[in-house]
Amino acid sequence: MQPTVIAPSILSANFAKLGEEVDAVLAAGADWVHFDVMDNHYVPNLTIGPMVCEALRKHGVTAPIDVHLMVEPVDRIVPDFAKAGASMITFHPEASRHVHRTVQLIKSHGCQAGLVLNPGTPIEVLDWVLDELDMVLLMSVNPGFGGQAFIPSSLDKLRAVRTMIDRSGRPIRLEIDGGVKADNIAEIAAAGADTFVAGSAIFNAPGVAEHGYSDVIARMK
Ligand code: DX5
Ligand code: ZN
Repeated sequence: MQPTVIAPSILSANFAKLGEEVDAVLAAGADWVHFDVMDNHYVPNLTIGPMVCEALRKHGVTAPIDVHLMVEPVDRIVPDFAKAGASMITFHPEASRHVHRTVQLIKSHGCQAGLVLNPGTPIEVLDWVLDELDMVLLMSVNPGFGGQAFIPSSLDKLRAVRTMIDRSGRPIRLEIDGGVKADNIAEIAAAGADTFVAGSAIFNAPGVAEHGYSDVIARMK
């Protein structure tokens, strides 16, 4: 198992002061920045692209930027995100015609590569490509929006993917995204996740306006 990583999803941040929000969560102990890219096509919502990633790098963010692509097609946007400073790029297999090729494309641009499994996506999609991956991202909500409830069957799915990863013998991260909160993170970690995305539970936590993010992030570690 890899060391624990907390990756706040900036989908729930205040976009009018994104640089400050990212600085604040990193200073409060977050490890990565989770960057949700939605295209109003693969998912019914529209968010941010490579320009915003580049702006965060220019602002001085040095932490890993974990780009979660919810876009279709995938390949065209990969080089732009690599150039904009993405550290890792994950994508949904349903959105790419040639999954193995997209993984290679991401790696050829110097980024780590991961596949994202929706709640309804069978884990067999990992067969024959797992050995190429740096990370598997399990969605514990359907993609498109922050603030949804954790789907309980994700725990069994996590355990199944953890077994596959352990069997591979490779240092592949297992990331979970959707409905992660301080009060369910222990159970999710016990099921095998090592990398935790949390959006609303961090940015909308009670009291953050007065006290900042340290308490809520400490409760997740
Ligand atoms: C949903 C995104 C998530 C989302 C998580 O499509 O991939 O990263 O922001 O938000 P919470 O933590 O609020 O469920
Ligand atoms: Zn995400």
